[in-house]
Amino acid sequence: MAVTQSPDNPAGPDSRLRDARLFLTQALQTFRATGSVVPSSPALAHALNRYVDERPDPAAPLSILESGSGTGPVSRAIAAHMRPGDTLDLVDPNPRFAEHLRGLLTTDPGLSAVADRVTVHESLVTDLGVDRRFDVIISGLPFANFTAEEVQEILDYYFTVLRPGGHLSFFGYLYTKQVKAIIAPRADYLRQVRSGWVVDDWVKRYGVGRERVFANVPPAWIFHLRKPLEDGGGS
Ligand SMILES: C[S@@+](CC[C@H](N)C(=O)[O-])C[C@H]1O[C@@H](n2cnc3c(N)ncnc32)[C@H](O)[C@@H]1O
Repeated sequence: MAVTQSPDNPAGPDSRLRDARLFLTQALQTFRATGSVVPSSPALAHALNRYVDERPDPAAPLSILESGSGTGPVSRAIAAHMRPGDTLDLVDPNPRFAEHLRGLLTTDPGLSAVADRVTVHESLVTDLGVDRRFDVIISGLPFANFTAEEVQEILDYYFTVLRPGGHLSFFGYLYTKQVKAIIAPRADYLRQVRSGWVVDDWVKRYGVGRERVFANVPPAWIFHLRKPLEDGGGS
C-alpha cells in the first residue's frame, strides 16, 4: 500500500498508517460490513470522483453523499475535488469509523478546509431517510458480502435520493467470485452470485461507465450509473 502524498491523498504517511491500523482492527472484528483489510488507495479514491469533476453545470454546486466512508481515504479525495458551495455527507455505521471521520474534520488539511460543508452520520445509509437529494453518490459498501435483498434495498435507496441525471459510482474487488468458488462454503458462494446478479441488473439498466483500478489492494472495478432524467424512482 502506497503511503505517499498526492492531491487526492493530502494526508501524510503517519496518518495513512494510523488509518490502516484502525481499518485492519475493525475489519478483523466486522469483516462482513468492512469487506476489506486495507483502506482504498489514492488511485481508487481519485477514480471514484469522476462525476464530482464532470459536472453538467460547472456553476451549480453539488450535493455529494459518500456511503461507507471507513477511515476516509475516499472522503479526503472528495474534499480535494470539491468546489465552492458543494456539500458532502459522510455515512458509516461503525462508531470507531464515525468518530475517526469527525476527528478528520479538524485534523486533516483537506477535510478541515471544507468542514463547514461536511456532515458525518453514524448510521446505516438506508436509515438516512428519503427526504434528501444528492447529485453524486459514491459508495464503498462491500456488496459482495451482502445478500441480494440487502443490495437491492441499498441500490433502491440510492436511486430514490439521487436527483434525476445524478450519478452513482461504486466499487468492488476483482476476482472475489472466482476466489470464493474455490475456498468459500457453497452457500456463501451462491449468496455472492445472487447479490452479483442484482448489481449486474442495475448496471445493465443504468450503467454509463466502468473502469478497473489495479493500483489498489486488492485490484478493484468501478461502475458508474446515471439516474435517467425521466425516471422518478428505483427498480
Ligand atoms: C470496503 S469499506 C470502504 C471504506 C472506505 N470507503 C475505503 O474505501 O477505504 C466499507 C465500509 O462500509 C461501511 N458500511 C457497511 N455497511 C454499511 C451501510 N449499510 N451503510 C453505510 N456504511 C456501511 C463499513 O463500516 C465500512 O467502513
